[in-house]
Amino acid sequence: MLKISLDQFNKNVFDEINYKWAIITAGDKFVGFNGMTVSWGGLGIMWNKPVAFIFVRKSRYTHEFLDKSKSITMAFLSDEYKKAKSIFGSVSGRDEDKYKKANLTPVFEPDFNGYYPKEAEYVYKMKVLYNTDLENMPEDIKNNFYNTNDLHTMYICEIKEYLVKE
Ligand SMILES: Cc1cc2nc3c(=O)[nH]c(=O)nc-3n(C[C@H](O)[C@H](O)[C@H](O)COP(=O)(O)O)c2cc1C
Repeated sequence: MLKISLDQFNKNVFDEINYKWAIITAGDKFVGFNGMTVSWGGLGIMWNKPVAFIFVRKSRYTHEFLDKSKSITMAFLSDEYKKAKSIFGSVSGRDEDKYKKANLTPVFEPDFNGYYPKEAEYVYKMKVLYNTDLENMPEDIKNNFYNTNDLHTMYICEIKEYLVKE
């Protein structure tokens, strides 16, 4: 992967997240690691830093690693890997080794102490700055999305590096 400036990011964020989906990875060598597919979230600026906003329900195995480790990535894979992305979005790492099942290769980066799938087209290496559980949403949204009370935690993650496939 080639490290380039975030100023060179020239994609449509709405399409990238909504249609292409991303794989969020969290964890490190010491606490273990996991990843899952997301299609909700955003990119923006907070506290003058480039950030990603991600939303992970408390029931996800990945949630545990987001709380235990500050080494987070958001990895975008081309649609050639749609099946792999579906596996990362339907199987839990509690039950199966998803990397193996989806035939993706976890790359470990010692300077960052985290993992991302080698097959990614581009990757943000990130650090969690802040998290909070979402509540007080309108009643219709609560009924539609939270009838089992499985709330989302919002993580604000600083984008530390932007890597693209060479
Ligand atoms: C297209 C797609 C998008 C998803 N987006 C999210 C999301 O934004 N937040 C979330 O908590 N779960 C989302 N999920 C569900 C998780 O990816 C799924 O429950 C996954 O199996 C959790 O894995 P884990 O238990 O190993 O963490 C999405 C699933 C798919 C297929």
